[in-house]
Amino acid sequence: MTAQIISGRDIAQKIIQKELIPRVRMLNKKSVQPKLVVIFLGENSASASYIRQKEKFAAQAGVASEVLKFPESISEEELLVEIKKINADDSIHGVIVQLPLPDHINVDKVISTIDPTKDVDGFSDENNSDLDIRKSLLPPCTPKGIITMLEKSGVNVAEKRVVVMGRSRIVGRPVAEMMLFRGAMVKVLHSKTPPQEAAQALKEAEVLVVAVGKPELVRGEQLSRGVIVIDVGIHRREDGSLCGDVHFESTKKVASLISPVPGGVGPMTVVSLIENTITAAEQTAN
Ligand code: GUN
Repeated sequence: MTAQIISGRDIAQKIIQKELIPRVRMLNKKSVQPKLVVIFLGENSASASYIRQKEKFAAQAGVASEVLKFPESISEEELLVEIKKINADDSIHGVIVQLPLPDHINVDKVISTIDPTKDVDGFSDENNSDLDIRKSLLPPCTPKGIITMLEKSGVNVAEKRVVVMGRSRIVGRPVAEMMLFRGAMVKVLHSKTPPQEAAQALKEAEVLVVAVGKPELVRGEQLSRGVIVIDVGIHRREDGSLCGDVHFESTKKVASLISPVPGGVGPMTVVSLIENTITAAEQTAN
């Protein structure tokens, strides 16, 4: 078996063309121009490259974007003042603070200062809970992107054995919750799961989402034939090439569907961010 590749890149482009551009046109007719602001501290090169992709997708969809750069030395207090200015600016519908942040800044404080109606990352407690995405207005972007890429690939997770590796607040936990809402039988594996339990669960998985942040941790030999694999990780190897949390070559031999790195979950996260920005703008236009 050679897995079919789930191209997040292609799905994201289709969503922009078929769904997002028409929604922006409708807003423009009501004299609303959706706008996203990205706050970027310092010079982290990976962050800079993610931000370029966010600006590119925004432009493709017709969403305005602005990157506000500050030195890494900015104080927490000064940063919170900047966020409050954006909260009060009606021309801005979405704001995100690019992570990671320097150690002297408390991420939770930053996220809770963003007006939840402009929190298009979906990181706040208001948005990142009760994650039935049919209800939640601005769901966290990576989990939403994963659900969308499965749905657009014709995968129905209801009654399937879904295994999520990783229990982070912004990926593992919310994606598990979204899968539950869709009727999946969900197991979450994490650093405290005994290895034998994890090995057994991986063998039984029909859908596997890996979000552990460890390069090529999961190998095809651990999985069963026909499994659907979503790889959330992204890492740069010493030779400069990129890889995910999943060992692609061994896994594509057993999987029926697999998301690649790059070009898989990454573009789906970004398209979800732009969609959330449009949704936020629609709320103000209604
Ligand atoms: N850093 C890496 N991924 C993300 C993301 O989705 N949002 C923000 N704000 N920062 C990130």
